This record gives sequence, C-alpha cells and structure tokens, in this order.
Amino acid sequence: MRVAMDRIRIRGGARLCGEIPISGAKNAALPLMAACLLSSEPLTLANVPQLADVEFMAALLRHLGVRAEWQPGTVLGEGGTYILNAAELSETTADYDIVRKMRASFLVSGPLLARAGYAKVSLPGGCAIGARPVDLHLKAMEALGAEVVLEEGYVVVSAAEGLKGGHIEFPVVSVGATENALMMAALAQGRTVIANAAREPEIADLGICLIAMGAKISGLGTSQIVVDGVPALHGAQHSVLPDRIETGTYAFAVAIAGGEVELTGTRGELIGAVIPLLERVGTEIAETNRGLKIHRNGVRPIAVDATTAPFPGFPTDLQAQFMALMATAQGVSHIRETIFENRFMHVPELLRMGADVRIEGDRAVVSGVERLKGAPVMATDLRASSSLVLAGLAAEGETMVHRVYHLDRGFERMEEKLSRAGAEIERLSA
Ligand code: EPZ
Repeated sequence: MRVAMDRIRIRGGARLCGEIPISGAKNAALPLMAACLLSSEPLTLANVPQLADVEFMAALLRHLGVRAEWQPGTVLGEGGTYILNAAELSETTADYDIVRKMRASFLVSGPLLARAGYAKVSLPGGCAIGARPVDLHLKAMEALGAEVVLEEGYVVVSAAEGLKGGHIEFPVVSVGATENALMMAALAQGRTVIANAAREPEIADLGICLIAMGAKISGLGTSQIVVDGVPALHGAQHSVLPDRIETGTYAFAVAIAGGEVELTGTRGELIGAVIPLLERVGTEIAETNRGLKIHRNGVRPIAVDATTAPFPGFPTDLQAQFMALMATAQGVSHIRETIFENRFMHVPELLRMGADVRIEGDRAVVSGVERLKGAPVMATDLRASSSLVLAGLAAEGETMVHRVYHLDRGFERMEEKLSRAGAEIERLSA
C-alpha cells in the first residue's frame, strides 16, 4: 500500500535500458471525469492512470451523486477504466475541504452549472506554485449568461433559464478556464466562440470526448474553438490520451542517466517543443511504431536555454525536471518560468545535492556540475518531486526523497517504471 510518509531511495549512476510504458494523462483524465456531469448517461473512460488525484476527483464526483465504478488494469502503464454514471445529481456544492486539496476540483463548476443551472464551489486559494486565481473561469460563465456571486469564500453561479451561447475572449491563455468554457458551451443554447483558447492536447482530448457524447465542436487544437450547443449529451466511451508530461520526464531521465529506452504508448507530437530541445542537449530521439526511443551515450549533456510557454511551447510542468538535467550539463543554462510566479521551489533541494543554481526574478541560471551528490531531499509539489528523483539518478551515492505523496498525485508507480528500466530505486514504506 502507498502511504503519505513513504520515501524513495535512489542510488545514482545506473544507466537506463529497456522500455518504460507511458500512462494516460492525469491532466486529461481530470477534466474528462468532470465531463460525466454533463450527461445523465454513463461515460466510460479507459486508459485512466491510477493516481491520487484521479481517486480524489472520483471521490468528489461521488459526493455530487455520481456512481463511479473503477476497473483496475492488470499491466503497468495500462491504467484502468472508470464508468461514471451521473444519472442523478444529489449535490451541487464542492466544499473548501475538497477544493483546497486539489485545484482541478474547480472543473466541476462549469458542468454543474450547465447541467443543473446552479453550482456552489469553494474558491481554491493559493498553492505552492503560485496564486492561481479563477477569474477567467468566472468571466467565461458570465459571458454565457450566468450570474456569478462570491460569498464567504465560495463562488455561487446560477443560470435559472440555462446558459446562452456567447463570445468568450481570454486575455491570457488558461488550460482550466478553456476546459470549463468548452464543457459549459456544449450545453448552452446557440453558438459560443472561445477566442485565445489554450491549445494543450488535453483540451482537444476533452473536445473529442464531448463530440462522442453528441457535442458540436470545431477548431479543436487551435486558439479559436466554436461550439454549437445541444440540448443534451449522451453516454460515450473514450480512451485518455498519453501523458506528455510523463513522456517528457522519462525522456529527461534517459538524458540525465544515459542509456537507451523506448517509451511505449506515447507520441512525439505530444511533446512538441521538447524534442528539438533534447536533441540540442545531445540526446537522440526516434519515433517507433510503439512510441519514442530515447538514447544518450556517455557524453555529458550540453547546456541549453528554455522558457516555459503555453502549448506548443515548453511546458511549465517539465521545468523542474529540465532543471535537474541542466544541473549536470556542460555549460550554463538559463531557464525562464513565465506561467507561474513561484515555481522554483525545487531549487533549494537541488542545491543540497550540489547543483549550482542562481535565481534572478523569473529566471534560473544553472551552471552544470560534473556530478551531483546524493542527499536527503523533500518535495513541495508534484513536478518538483520528480525532478529530485531525476537528479538522484545522476547523483553520486544515495538520495532519499521525502514527501513522496506529491509524486503519487501525478506519476503512476514511478519507482517501479524506473527500476524496471535498470535504475537502482526503491520505495521505503513508512
Ligand atoms: C493546468 O493548470 C494544469 N493542471 C497544470 O498542471 C499546468 O501547470 C497548467 O495547466 C499550465 O500548463 C491541470 O490540467 C489539472 P492555467 P491550470 O489556468 O488550468 C493564470 C500539474 O503539475 N490564470 O492554464 O490551473 C494562472 O495563475 C499541474 O499537473 C489566471 O490568472 O493552469 C497561471 O499563471 C500544476 N486566472 C496561468 O493563468 C484564471 O482564472 C495559466 O494557468 C486561470 C488561470
């Protein structure tokens, strides 16, 4: 059993070989699960990763009256299937205690509003990586005719006569607000245009599922999505797309540890900007008919610069892992974080492992060192934890990563996947 106080121990230096199966995307699974609220018929989702955040979303949906039936997969990386039946909603409130634990809980607000005409959802509050407001979600609700009231830390939204199609123009690109808008527009009366929409593959995946449920959507994958509302959506089956952040993380793991690994069940187009970056670092990447083959021989990685940006740019969710790689590279790398204002919490931990990183505002200047040194470290958020695991693969001696519960939120059995590929890594139970 995986418990909160587990630790992960890594002995650095082993090269990676063989294959690593890539799971379904957490950040696609969460909005897809919320989409079940839009229909009274069951939504069946396959390739759902077994993660703490997914279990958390299922618990929230059950609280709202959804019957959620989980069928676990039998093979590592294959995920499981959720059958989500929202025939009747018994609740339209998501409490603070629920939302503060996982911000993606806010994604139930749009579907509840669209289906039930009312929702009361706690404001998420800040989190470890930044302030992360929800003003853009609320703007989208208002654009579709909803009344939005803030009271005592809650957002209360209502549309007694149903939502009406409208023009939503986002001043900044937001993944979550685009997803909420898309789900609401699917059931709004008339046409909705979502301008400056986020183009992350998880949004197209949600759109494809909504279309399978009977929605009328065009422009998926572009920054202008057009939705013609329908009176009701029906049941459907959908398979969650592969996790591009997990793909990038293991590609960086090979780049940092050296070796050759095939990442199976994934696709190059999902990690877009990451491929040329990895090539410049000195890693070879080839598409295979099962996924992506990543190879780096004994030569040290070369330092390159990166700036995070919305898709198809370099993802903020890979910034910490990339920094671990650059910490061991030859030369100086400048890494700029433009999405979240406080996403360098992994830096003090990397410094404990002998990395040479200086923060200058939204930039980190990373001077690569020949060899990191193992140390006890702890994580503050999900992606930061994975960067410490990666650093441990390249470090001399033993690294102990504490607060592994962060990792379990978004990486399915990371230690097992890496250990099967030759890493010396194990989970120590509390
Ligand atoms: C999604 O969060 C992901 N989460 C995040 O992954 C990811 O880091 C982020 O997109 C950016 O790619 C899920 O998909 C569940 P945003 P989201 O709205 O939707 C600002 C992980 O590790 N903003 O695109 O919350 C916001 O503060 C997580 O898996 C507003 O100002 O991100 C940020 O600066 C962490 N007002 C920027 O926009 C709003 O109403 C982008 O945030 C909404 C967002």
